[in-house]
Amino acid sequence: MSRKTNYRQEWKSGNGKLPPAAPVAFGLFFRAGACYRAASMSRSPLILALETSCDETAVAICDGAGQIRAAVLSSQIPEHQPYGGVVPELASRNHLLRIRPLIEEALQTAGVTLADIHAFAATAGPGLASSLLIGNTTAKGLALATGQPFIAVNHLEGHLLSPFLGNPAGLQPGAALIVSGGHTLLLHLRGSGDCLLLGRTRDDAAGEAFDKVARMLGLPYPGGPEIDRRAASGDPRAFDFPRSMKDSGDFAFSFSGLKTSMFYLLPTLGDSAAARLPDLCASFQEAVVDILVTKTLAAARHLGAKHVSVSGGVSCNSRLRQVFHERCARAGLTLHLAAPAHTTDNAAMIAYAALHRFQAGQFTPLESDIDPNLTL
Ligand code: KG4
Ligand code: ZN
Repeated sequence: MSRKTNYRQEWKSGNGKLPPAAPVAFGLFFRAGACYRAASMSRSPLILALETSCDETAVAICDGAGQIRAAVLSSQIPEHQPYGGVVPELASRNHLLRIRPLIEEALQTAGVTLADIHAFAATAGPGLASSLLIGNTTAKGLALATGQPFIAVNHLEGHLLSPFLGNPAGLQPGAALIVSGGHTLLLHLRGSGDCLLLGRTRDDAAGEAFDKVARMLGLPYPGGPEIDRRAASGDPRAFDFPRSMKDSGDFAFSFSGLKTSMFYLLPTLGDSAAARLPDLCASFQEAVVDILVTKTLAAARHLGAKHVSVSGGVSCNSRLRQVFHERCARAGLTLHLAAPAHTTDNAAMIAYAALHRFQAGQFTPLESDIDPNLTL
């Protein structure tokens, strides 16, 4: 089990939950409102967003048309790889070191200065508390210094909206799948800030299953891309892994049986396991993809939806993208896949979600708290 998984379970169990936010002080709330009135008069607002929920430090600047004017990211994968997962204290220290140069780089790329920014946004949860605090506090500090509003963004809303980033038609209501390292959620997306949860995983998230199985196979963290790469030369029918809850008639998922099945299969293969690595990866991946695509299309049918959107780190998986394309085309559904650069954690999706909040006049008091267990 990876360190990353341990900490994620800690948030799930509520151990990482902070006390509820303090009551809002009227003075500062009013201040944010006054800033909004000034900013709303701008014809093309610029929003600077920070993402520091886990092990990626990211900064993006988005304009009022939803165009990303700058997106910079510093990944900490090499720092955490020796531990087989994310070490929270290491992550927050690295965020602190990297965030200021990244903000400067983003401003330079967009050709603007801090004085040109109309709102500062940051991920408020879910995520690692000590990491969330770095981005959150930095964005609030910038808002305070420039007199502009602060916008707290739910990381999951960032993923949810990411397939529509750069789409001139904007958000399209329909069935939405979020598949990341910490979440597997099937939702009815009805509009900006308006979605209904249809089902979630009962145990491991899909990305967590990829990471745990990769570890069993002796592959480095993060396991998803490693399995994806090796699966390309394997036979997806070589091993018959279970498709748990595929036909359960609801929209819940379960991936722990699939992981257990790999755990019991490996010793039976003995020395041949190494040679069968591509087949093992391809067969495991096929089972995950089959479950995710089948249930998402069932949700679209249930909703009578015309659109399907897929986001989160696992949506980068090449086989998942291929099967979604094939099966949505067959079912006459329009597919919206997050661009590969926007599948894993990034600040462009946070800026885009913040833009929707900005346009709705939804600002966040500076006294607001982070929430490591935030849900949609
Ligand atoms: O969205 P994300 O960056 O972080 C969370 O919010 O959790 O997702 C990270 C997850 C990891 O579990 C990683 O193994 C998985 O996404 N992932 C993939 C691929 N690329 C990243 N899983 C399968 N295939 C991939 N190509
Ligand atoms: Zn994420």
